[in-house]
Amino acid sequence: MIKVENLSILYRVNGREFLGLKNFSGEFMEGEIGVIFGPSGSGKTSLLLSIGTLLRPAEGRVLYDGVDVYSLLEKKVRELRKNLGISFQEPTFVNVLSVWENIELGLYASGRLNEEFKKRARELAETLGIAQILNKKPNEISGGEARRAAIVRALAHDPRTILLDEPTAYLDAGSAEKLIEILREERERGKILILTTHDPVLEKVADRRFTLQYGMPVGTET
Ligand SMILES: Nc1ncnc2c1ncn2[C@@H]1O[C@H](COP(=O)(O)OP(=O)(O)OP(=O)(O)O)[C@@H](O)[C@H]1O
Ligand SMILES: [Mg+2]
Repeated sequence: MIKVENLSILYRVNGREFLGLKNFSGEFMEGEIGVIFGPSGSGKTSLLLSIGTLLRPAEGRVLYDGVDVYSLLEKKVRELRKNLGISFQEPTFVNVLSVWENIELGLYASGRLNEEFKKRARELAETLGIAQILNKKPNEISGGEARRAAIVRALAHDPRTILLDEPTAYLDAGSAEKLIEILREERERGKILILTTHDPVLEKVADRRFTLQYGMPVGTET
């Protein structure tokens, strides 16, 4: 279980402070899809990055099975990250490598670059309809293909926790449905899934909804 307690995020830019998120609390459970809704600028990405061990909050805690990730030694955090799969709002790849090599790089980073996980990655790519672009370079694919490739990379190593920032952005309705099928399968397999979105299509998969309003959580429901 991931428990977020009174999380506030501040960005410092040229000596000025900007609020990224104010006082968010919520719980995300195994076998559930938690969806964070909210308008642009409300703090969805900030919250997801903080849950993903990548953005230290100004206040509050992120607890994985009761352990505060921001109190852990770097070595322990690295171990924990091997069981995290994150796809960012803006997919980023190593441009000199092919899309497939980027996916392999992700497997390598989690210590799972072997046939079992490569097979899983290929199957995910097929389900999401991007098998034919895997040998291309990242700058030779479309926005929707990049999104799907980043999702394959996030899931390939079969992480326990899956964090997807705006996963249906740039996807056509058919691809979004395929993605939803995958998310449901991962839920059945007991994963913790956390998504951010503006997309009402994802309403139907949410087991828990959180709504942010300009950095403020405006009510959570289960
Ligand atoms: N690196 C940064 N430096 C300064 N302020 C930032 C930074 N990143 C985000 N912010 C601010 O934090 C607030 C929350 O941003 P965040 O990206 O988390 O919102 P979001 O809900 O993901 O928006 P969107 O739907 O547009 O992706 C915004 O007011 C934004 O301007
Ligand atoms: Mg965002």
